Amino acid sequence: MKKNNQIQKYSKNFQNKFLKDYLQESYLKKNFDKTKLIKKLKNSVTFEKYILEKLYKNNLIVKKNIKLENVHLYVKKNQFTKENSSSDITRNILTEYFFNKDKIFFNIYKKIIFQLKRELQFDFLYQKDPFLRFNFPTKKKEDNLLPHVDLALGHPPGEINIWLPITNVSKNNSMSISTLEYSNNFFSKYNFNFQKYIKAYNYSIKKKAEKILIPYVAKKGEAAIFDGRIMHKSLLNNSKKTRVSLDFRILPVIYEKSAKKYIGTGYLKQRFIRGKYYNIKNA
Ligand SMILES: [Fe+2]
Repeated sequence: MKKNNQIQKYSKNFQNKFLKDYLQESYLKKNFDKTKLIKKLKNSVTFEKYILEKLYKNNLIVKKNIKLENVHLYVKKNQFTKENSSSDITRNILTEYFFNKDKIFFNIYKKIIFQLKRELQFDFLYQKDPFLRFNFPTKKKEDNLLPHVDLALGHPPGEINIWLPITNVSKNNSMSISTLEYSNNFFSKYNFNFQKYIKAYNYSIKKKAEKILIPYVAKKGEAAIFDGRIMHKSLLNNSKKTRVSLDFRILPVIYEKSAKKYIGTGYLKQRFIRGKYYNIKNA
């Protein structure tokens, strides 16, 4: 199994600070008495048409008046749906095409953010550049994706994950997600030291993690909004439909100050501040 080398590695001193931040009360729990919410963000339907038009205009697909979930049947070349990374099943030419987003994309995104704000009713910073992913059907049965929390990748405690399917998602092509209680119990065995977790990670730990993960089954537009300490992982797409999803993170403004201490583990070494990872203006 390939080990992920992008896991946070804090000095002992910082790990203690991290732990203190990590174990604070859940913001969602305090405000909604739940650590996972599902909210319909109907502005996301606009994405469907936009994505198809964009792909068609740029010669990546051969027809545009199709259902987005069938997009794999219309890609111009087969290699467009091939995985470009062994640790990310959603890394392919179509996903990469949207690394550079245009104004129209961001306008739709902002509308989704406004809608989210209306639902949540608290002030938050939000990820400036969200991630649009294509998860194509595959015959593979075993993946080597790490069940994780984004806080293991350097993200600041207090962050909330938003996972928004743009196509309907089933148990065979969605992502899987645990509960805060199970996740905390699971990672407490490693003292929330994710280096320790990754070093120990093997087939038996994978199976244990899978026992506490449940596929998120939803209609398009039904966003999963969950505490950043809830374990999750993409699922191999063993269905006949492409899964398209948007993921981004928000940070209630009360955590802004403590977030400044954190740095992303990816090659970008992201700073979790306004104008960098987060949009300058909060919602
Ligand atoms: Fe994640």
